[in-house]
Amino acid sequence: YVPVLTIDGPSGSGKGTIAHRVAARLGFHVLDSGALYRLLGAAAKRHAVSIDNEPALEVLAAHLDVQFTADANGDAIIMLEGEDVSLEIRTEEAGRAASQVAVLPRVRNALLARQQAFRESPGLVADGRDMGTVVFPHADLKVFLTASAEARAERRYKQLLEKGFDASLAALIDDIRARDTRDMERSIAPLKPAEGALVLDSTDLGIEAVVQRVIDAARA
Ligand code: CDP
Repeated sequence: YVPVLTIDGPSGSGKGTIAHRVAARLGFHVLDSGALYRLLGAAAKRHAVSIDNEPALEVLAAHLDVQFTADANGDAIIMLEGEDVSLEIRTEEAGRAASQVAVLPRVRNALLARQQAFRESPGLVADGRDMGTVVFPHADLKVFLTASAEARAERRYKQLLEKGFDASLAALIDDIRARDTRDMERSIAPLKPAEGALVLDSTDLGIEAVVQRVIDAARA
């Protein structure tokens, strides 16, 4: 039996960091499902496929040539068609493209089995928007991680500066609100807490405190 722990939540809630730390503590694998949507956006750009061409994007999604590895520090390295795109897919532009391809039902369906295949022994921590609601509805523990839009924009701002990108906090708050609306109001796999999810608000909680709550819940 291979346990699955899902962490869903809006943009900038800290899911990625929490997912990686929880996985490290438990010795589990990680699925960064958002990266798959970002990769699809990047692949579309490379192959000059329009971001609303659903049939072409479905084919691209089904054949997406990606590899998830890590560098010596354990930081994720993401390869698309043999090329390191780890930085390229983290831009705001790539995030926007991701959330645009993510509204297409045939794209989501084409990525479903690929995401489920990450469930490998000894266990998986899956990070995304619909991990607990659609992809792993029978997960052993479901977490919904949230935080105020301002707190999330500020975190994103710091991350972008650390990576050497230019950023404006005001623009990021607008962007996060727009992304929230798009993610929550779309008809397919809208962002919402899964049934029975542990809802954690990280606005005033440090990373380690959140990690500890998730670990405690996983062991309960
Ligand atoms: O870093 P951030 O949380 O903004 O984004 P992400 O997790 O990398 O996901 C990028 C976009 O992909 C999101 O805005 C969602 O629209 C979409 N996504 C999704 O629809 N379903 C998932 N399981 C993961 C991401």
